[in-house]
Amino acid sequence: MTKWNTFFGPVILGQFCLESLDEWLKTNRSNYSKIIILTDSNVHEMCLPIFFAEVKNIGQIEILEIEPGEKSKSFELISQLHLALLDNEADRKSLLLSLGGGVVSDIGGFLSSTFMRGINHLIVPTSLLSMVDASIGGKNGVNVGGFKNLSGTFSSSQGVFIYPKFLNSLNETELISGFSEIIKHAMLSSQSLWIDCINCSATSDFMNLISRAVEVKIDIVEKDNLEIGNYRFSLNIGHTIAHAIEYFEDLNISHGDAVAAGLWIESQIAFDEGLIDSKSLRALQDLLDRWWSRLDLSNMDLFKGMLADKKKSSFSKDFYFSLWSGVGRGAVLTPVSREKIYKAKMRYDQD
Ligand SMILES: NC(=O)c1ccc[n+]([C@@H]2O[C@H](COP(=O)([O-])OP(=O)(O)OC[C@H]3O[C@@H](n4cnc5c(N)ncnc54)[C@H](O)[C@@H]3O)[C@@H](O)[C@H]2O)c1
Repeated sequence: MTKWNTFFGPVILGQFCLESLDEWLKTNRSNYSKIIILTDSNVHEMCLPIFFAEVKNIGQIEILEIEPGEKSKSFELISQLHLALLDNEADRKSLLLSLGGGVVSDIGGFLSSTFMRGINHLIVPTSLLSMVDASIGGKNGVNVGGFKNLSGTFSSSQGVFIYPKFLNSLNETELISGFSEIIKHAMLSSQSLWIDCINCSATSDFMNLISRAVEVKIDIVEKDNLEIGNYRFSLNIGHTIAHAIEYFEDLNISHGDAVAAGLWIESQIAFDEGLIDSKSLRALQDLLDRWWSRLDLSNMDLFKGMLADKKKSSFSKDFYFSLWSGVGRGAVLTPVSREKIYKAKMRYDQD
């Protein structure tokens, strides 16, 4: 079992982490008036029975179940969940436990940090993407008017408990979706994680990368808790384009798949800007093309989805990108003209 003590709370990873959560509850359960589990219907069916079999000291609980999927990340649902918490007699001494993928942990983070001005929160991620990224770092977000994570808070939790066995019920498509964020972390990390990503030949290989991917994210966010310094923005590589793709929500493209397309296009921009050499560009784009088919973006007006990008400044017409500078070399915040973005997208559409 591995444990990191971080500014946003402890992170515990491994096959005994649910036992560790059970131990924590043994000591702390009596401090809480209520425990409410927030989950979605898939995770309710596939993971909750396993959770209850391992976590025996949880006592009386209430369950709030939401619809799976990105559409749940809305203010409408947040407002309904506030009322559902009240209906379940939650108060300021209650604990919210988010059990699910990144959608559940984002909603749970937002809900717990706003209900009655904040209640305690525990996160048990069940998707690969959430284990390596969404549950780590103390950020959450909900979408407004289709714009990704336009509203959100920074919030800490009492703990993030990563139990990789939950992934046994996650389908291949979702495992591959989560791999995009592991690749992102590898791009910002060392040669060794990068080479291991390139050498993955089956989704079962992803399991050996979880701990190192978590470590990369923790290392970066620890240096820049509130994203006002020069570190945390590097985690946005690929995400300016990804969020623009997700704006077209009727296309139903998962966050991880949008990130894969975003990494492809933004690495092309990084190359065109002279930030990476052709060898790095080829290595990344080949890796992405091995795991993802290209999305059909030909009729998509990406600029529309980029209007609410949090890096954009009203001082300039350019869009700001966090552009990759090569393995282990971080990223550079760079203004990019519409023409250059369009050119890179054309390469993605036509190559
Ligand atoms: N706050 C952050 O720092 C941060 C970082 C990265 C991503 N995110 C957010 O995370 C979200 C994407 O997360 P995601 O990919 O986990 O999506 P998700 O939560 O929608 O989960 C994907 C699907 O897998 C199902 N699922 C989850 N665990 C399962 C399991 N063990 N067995 C069977 N089915 C399971 C879910 O029901 C869902 O249908 C996006 O909204 C993204 O914006 C947030």
